[in-house]
Amino acid sequence: MTLQIKSYSEYKKVYKNSVDNPEKFWAAQARTFTWMKKWDEVVEWDFKKPDVKWFVGGKLNITENCLDRHLKRSGNKTALIWEPNDPSQPYKTYTYNELYEAVCQCANMLKANGIKKGDRVCFYMPMVPELTIGVLACARIGAVHSVVFAGFSATALADRIKDSECKMVICSDYNFRGGKIIPVKEVVDDALKQRCKSVETVIVHQNSGDKVKMKKNRDKWWHDEVPRRRKTCPAVEMDSEDMLFILYTSGSTGKPKGVVHTCGGYMVYTCFTFKNVFQYQKGDVYWCTADIGWITGHSYIIYGPLLAGATTMMFEGVPTYPDAGRFWHICEKHRVNQFYTAPTAIRALMAQGDKWPSHYDLSSIKTLGSVGEPINEEAWNWYNEKIGKGKAPIVDTWWQTETGGIMISPLPGLHKVKPCYAMLPMPGVQPCLVDADGKEIRKKEAEGLLCIKYPWPSMIRTTYGDHERCRQVYFSAFEDKYFTGDGARRDKQGMYRIIGRVDDVINVSGHRIGTAEVENAINEHPQVIESAVVGYPHDIKGQGIYAYVITEGEIADPVAFKKSVHEVVTKVIGPIAKPDKIQIVPGLPKTRSGKIMRRILRKVASGDMDNLGDVSTLLNPQIVDSIKSSKDEAV
Ligand code: WT7
Repeated sequence: MTLQIKSYSEYKKVYKNSVDNPEKFWAAQARTFTWMKKWDEVVEWDFKKPDVKWFVGGKLNITENCLDRHLKRSGNKTALIWEPNDPSQPYKTYTYNELYEAVCQCANMLKANGIKKGDRVCFYMPMVPELTIGVLACARIGAVHSVVFAGFSATALADRIKDSECKMVICSDYNFRGGKIIPVKEVVDDALKQRCKSVETVIVHQNSGDKVKMKKNRDKWWHDEVPRRRKTCPAVEMDSEDMLFILYTSGSTGKPKGVVHTCGGYMVYTCFTFKNVFQYQKGDVYWCTADIGWITGHSYIIYGPLLAGATTMMFEGVPTYPDAGRFWHICEKHRVNQFYTAPTAIRALMAQGDKWPSHYDLSSIKTLGSVGEPINEEAWNWYNEKIGKGKAPIVDTWWQTETGGIMISPLPGLHKVKPCYAMLPMPGVQPCLVDADGKEIRKKEAEGLLCIKYPWPSMIRTTYGDHERCRQVYFSAFEDKYFTGDGARRDKQGMYRIIGRVDDVINVSGHRIGTAEVENAINEHPQVIESAVVGYPHDIKGQGIYAYVITEGEIADPVAFKKSVHEVVTKVIGPIAKPDKIQIVPGLPKTRSGKIMRRILRKVASGDMDNLGDVSTLLNPQIVDSIKSSKDEAV
């Protein structure tokens, strides 16, 4: 069984071993899994290229470890609980046996439709069990899944389908979200009109039953294709370094990149961190509220929990439907033991008042998790007092799409936690802080750029189709280090606090959005000449999107203009990237080489106008005063 650390002194011992002798440490963890062939080398790495391989030469199938391995002893244990959007509808459960059969049937459907090992399959679906089943079915036959969050637009979906040349899309007819019903199949149809030549088949899961158009010879119903298949399907032998999935994420420049994760290391790391960070005990019900369209859902709704043989829950809906007590109602209803959510949700629910959690019995909760963005002290305290009743430790988990699993986190109950601190590196994780010159800061108490100086099993291997981009973004800033893009502080005890991104990535409600992407979208508006986008502090979302826009001619009605910009951004990216504020400006502050000085724009957007620093080196210093004085006109 995967190691579960039980005390702080044990953590210290294990951590030291994991750094002194990483190969021995990870080999011991890897041995607790089922391998078709044992690895020859634990790790081979070179951050310069980068080239990272874990459990080299090992053969396995991750679904054999998520499913088959548990059947003998825990076949009748609940693997998955699904709570629907509408609380008056029945919830569903799958035992490990049932999930195994469902995954095998779906895997056989994939094969019957021509999907082979290495083919990419795109998912564009709501949070329904079929999404988990489909993802695991891909892994079963060695197909690579690429899940796209169903809030992205047709154009964004098409970009992702094209980038990885997906052969199949699996979607639903409609999605339910709160009181809304969203025509997802229509979005897929729109996307596929945008030159997605690789797609041969679309499998449509019937979620609402309302009519949708089905294209002959391309579109097939899930209910026609899946249930008639055999309930067993051999797990394909995968190399440890074969691709498991692609997940697109935003960076500071260019289009979203496809982060690639591979089989062996990802399996070992997600299971290990799940068991330790949540201190999952047999029989516990674990609930992560993330969407499977993000890495949190991949690693800590599907893979980590199932590898550990846990009961994991999926929720189709939103925190405020039918009312702001929904999360707490679900916790009471399913006697949730570990609850994992994002600060933005905590802040939004906190704003609805204490009466909501007070209506429900939350006594089952043992551990509370936070992820995705820095958690502010007020939200931390509310979470601690009103949800955990001061008895459930909070784990503020820091990690990224690229890290595959949780990197820095408290271990609940094993030590005192400092509010808002992510605290301790996981065993095997070697973080460091570097200064602007790239020198590692040795002093314990320090602030700097967060890097990782040794490989860990679930780290990014490449960016799909563009290895050079992976090298450039993550491995070129500092020699022999992975650069996270985050700034962090370390206290006297060596505990970490994450400050946030130091690059041009904005974190809106825990979603990562690249400023360049939003600018490109805004620039498609016919009246826009140029734009610059920055983040600014936002009470609920953590960061909001602030856009400075140069327009062609006068804008008579700024509110109507904002609406039209929203329409363009929604079309190009999706509603999550809509600017919260738009300020029309006559020009943008630029350096002599033509670079936009975002530092100044960030300060103005945050209302921090007195301290703009030296602007004299700008090409157009006079523009700063003009931007400052028209800030109140932002809509
Ligand atoms: C960025 C990664 C993997 C989790 C979901 C987001 C920020 C994440 C924390 C935290 C402060 C955090 C960082 C990171 N972030 N967790 N506990 N405290 N900031 O994954 O979309 O890849 O975003 O989210 O800035 O770089 P992601």
